[in-house]
Amino acid sequence: MKNLSNYSLKQHNTFGIDAKCAQFVEYSTEAEAVEVAELLRSARIPYIIIGGGSNLLLTRDYEGIVVHSTCKGISRTGNRLVCGSGEVFDDVVAQSISMGLYGAENLSLIPGDVGASAVQNIGAYGAEAKDLIRSIRAVEIATGNVCVIENAECEYGYRQSKFKHEWKNRYLILSVEYEFSATFEPRLDYGNIRAELEKQGISEPTAQQLRDTIISIREAKLPDPKVLGNAGSFFMNPIVAREKYNELAALYEGMPHYDIDADNVKIPAGWMIDQCGWKGKSLGRAGVHDKQALVLVNRGGATGQEIVALCQQIQTDVKAKFGVDIYPEVNVI
Ligand code: EPU
Repeated sequence: MKNLSNYSLKQHNTFGIDAKCAQFVEYSTEAEAVEVAELLRSARIPYIIIGGGSNLLLTRDYEGIVVHSTCKGISRTGNRLVCGSGEVFDDVVAQSISMGLYGAENLSLIPGDVGASAVQNIGAYGAEAKDLIRSIRAVEIATGNVCVIENAECEYGYRQSKFKHEWKNRYLILSVEYEFSATFEPRLDYGNIRAELEKQGISEPTAQQLRDTIISIREAKLPDPKVLGNAGSFFMNPIVAREKYNELAALYEGMPHYDIDADNVKIPAGWMIDQCGWKGKSLGRAGVHDKQALVLVNRGGATGQEIVALCQQIQTDVKAKFGVDIYPEVNVI
């Protein structure tokens, strides 16, 4: 178990913000996670559990304990892979394809760790982690007991799960079991996937070709955090009542949207932010990415507060123009 004091989290958040924590602990095995649970129970100071830091905005030094998993390993049984919570999620996607296990192609290149995939229900191009997750193995902090949590218990929704609410800070995730399909059933009818494949003269892609295409679409729109600090989508796409959607659609012809059900419609926050004129603009050292307005970036040396100030200004402007509230997808500390 790694246990450090007064530790900089710069390498642990993709915004690249240089905030410190009073204590930083890392577990790499089940036994170490049980030890960390004990430490958290006895220390009686606040703690947070982080993953790859790709959904984290640090606005201050943290006076408590930051917990991080480095549990590794990917093991296969039939169509299932049990993956250590500290594995990079995209490595699991790459390995699954090379093993002839399908279903994760559209989730290629999403930043973050395996553990976070189960907490955040990461998603892209019509696919979500919850469709692959079968169960989660974790240590319950209050008791030190190892337990297995089934998918159905997690109450998964769009970028939501019980781990973010009732179960916040309750478990140290050890591994996630994903179930794949042995047959490749490509999902191409989302965004510009089909158009991008057609550009390459491909109508029936292999899983690897689909993965490569998703990667190139993402690379064209989303900045590389190693070059320009960011946390992917900063806001969640709001879901509005159909009446509200009809009202807006009458004003904005061709407004992009996704039907959720008979009563609800999802509107891309990136489109609304773009319409407000924010794309490519900055407030202090925080900015809005010039290729995708849903992504806030650290233009260099920005503090977490500068990013929050930009976030709040955008929320105000979107509310004023569209009458819609938008909320961060990232966890603000
Ligand atoms: N749009 C604009 N201007 C912009 C951005 C978007 O007009 O600056 C329009 C696009 O033209 C499109 C629509 O808004 O018509 C939606 O944009 P896009 O397809 O890029 O997807 P998104 O809704 O902005 C979501 C996910 C992404 C995921 C993509 C692809 C959320 C919060 N974000 O973004 O996830 O990659 O779909 O499926 O649901 C992430 O979570 O970090 C992430 C990148």
